[in-house]
Amino acid sequence: MRSFTLRQWLACCHGRAGCESDRARAIHEAAAFPLAPGAGGPYKADNFLLPELAAMSAPLSPIDTAKFVAAKRATQFVESGMKVGLGTGSTAAWLVQCLGQMVRDEGLQIKGVPTSTRTADLARQVGIEVISLDQAKWLDLTIDGTDEYDADLNLIKGGGGALLQEKIVATASDQMIVIADISKKVETLGAFPLPVEVIPFGWQTSKTLIEETLIGMDVLGQDTSLRMNGDAPYVTDEGNHILDLHLHRIGNPRQLSLVLNQIPGVVENGLFIDICDVVVIGYGDGRVEVNDYRQGEAETSRIDLLDEGNIFGDALD
Ligand code: 5RP
Repeated sequence: MRSFTLRQWLACCHGRAGCESDRARAIHEAAAFPLAPGAGGPYKADNFLLPELAAMSAPLSPIDTAKFVAAKRATQFVESGMKVGLGTGSTAAWLVQCLGQMVRDEGLQIKGVPTSTRTADLARQVGIEVISLDQAKWLDLTIDGTDEYDADLNLIKGGGGALLQEKIVATASDQMIVIADISKKVETLGAFPLPVEVIPFGWQTSKTLIEETLIGMDVLGQDTSLRMNGDAPYVTDEGNHILDLHLHRIGNPRQLSLVLNQIPGVVENGLFIDICDVVVIGYGDGRVEVNDYRQGEAETSRIDLLDEGNIFGDALD
């Protein structure tokens, strides 16, 4: 079956010519699927099979355009022979999709280390060879999304519940590149609730200890909540729970990260300090900025969406 280009897909979504194939009809129908519960909100815990693909089948909103162009630009950092950490979330899903297209159409040879079972499923589905971190041992590059980033490239991650694997994989990489739409940029971290992964045993005790610890920290709020998946606590890929810390402002992210990880029951927190090297920021009009703050370099370009073909190629076959 021939591939369906983004141009055709856009035409299809807007009811214009080019919507004549079975594939086009199938994707058009898929566009009517509801998004995964919580997709687009602060928490993206859900049980959907490959919710990223469902989301990609909806018409491209400015925010999706921004995520897509950031992901597309980041693929320019990837070379054949690399071992690449594959992030989790809606922006990272665009990256996986773009890399899959390069594997299928351009002969790109990479081994991907996914940061969640969701990403592993998606990567396999689009044709990327998946290996474990233990098989890879060390990676050339990790590309992932973020919930917030600041001017020092400190991040809050874990909105999609994958912070533990994400942090391990990114730390085991020569370079971490974050892909994001501009809304993720903040002056001070903390508006997005900080996820903290805790083991289920005694999680309420860990929660109390965290709340007591927060009293002495440079933060504006101290409320914590157990992340839920419907009526049950959310369970991570490692079988743990997540506490979301509603801090509003984190004055000293480095200190907070160190202190949180000392608390019994805490497995890891969503602050990524000194891990990210480069941020690729997408905009709704197709502009994309690459910011390497540590090198003091910034570059702006534009990705013409109508020139991007086959992005939905085999993935939905
Ligand atoms: C998952 C993450 C994601 O990278 C973060 O939530 C951003 O997701 P999205 O790209 O969907 O906004 O940390 O644990």
